[in-house]
Amino acid sequence: MWILGHRGASAAAPENTLAAFSLAMVQHATGVELDVYQAEDEIVVIHDRWLNRTTNGKGMVTSHPLSYLRSLDAGKGEQIPLLSEVFGILPPYAVLNVEIKHLTNVDSWLRKIREGLAQNRFPAENLIISSFNHRWIRQIKQAWPEVRIGALTATYPENGLGFAHDLDAFSLHMALDVVDECYVKEAHNAGLKVLVYTVDHPEDMQMLKAWGVDGIFTNVPDIARDVLA
Ligand code: G3P
Ligand code: MG
Repeated sequence: MWILGHRGASAAAPENTLAAFSLAMVQHATGVELDVYQAEDEIVVIHDRWLNRTTNGKGMVTSHPLSYLRSLDAGKGEQIPLLSEVFGILPPYAVLNVEIKHLTNVDSWLRKIREGLAQNRFPAENLIISSFNHRWIRQIKQAWPEVRIGALTATYPENGLGFAHDLDAFSLHMALDVVDECYVKEAHNAGLKVLVYTVDHPEDMQMLKAWGVDGIFTNVPDIARDVLA
């Protein structure tokens, strides 16, 4: 079962920082999940629209120049990372789920991500791109047919797996609150991997393992590694 550090090993290190991603790998995670915004011509790693929860900055991520974002403290002296820096520090076997929170232009976003992968020799096969914004995901898949898409949902979709099928997804990313064993079976029958977020309690980890879920997003990869061993 895959163990993906949700925003890195974010219970023990500041979320969505290089320290959190490195720690997740030290804790023997399979890989990490992170959240991204587009800032000028760069892709930066941060979860919220507003800077105040996770950094010493103020205002919205999208209302500042990149130089300001990069000057901030994202916790324990960590910078808001560039996505390309994450490609640079992850081992080549790590699975990386990039969850898009915001982008301004699909073409420039794709150019940037492909450039980052090539420069850092991080394998594109290890990447899964997801977003709650399925319109962006559809455009990305059209422009880059080989890329792995994660069909991300916070709800139990009314059309079952239709949305994942429409997105030509590799995996289904479901909230722990709504996933059930029947849906996991349906997804497997449709050839999809099932990844569940956010799973921090050992009982939930064991239940999902019993259902045959393929992976979890967790803030505590160390605990997951012990529980799922
Ligand atoms: O990608 C899974 C999960 O991270 C989605 O929710 O709010 O933690 O980004 P959130
Ligand atoms: Mg996320």
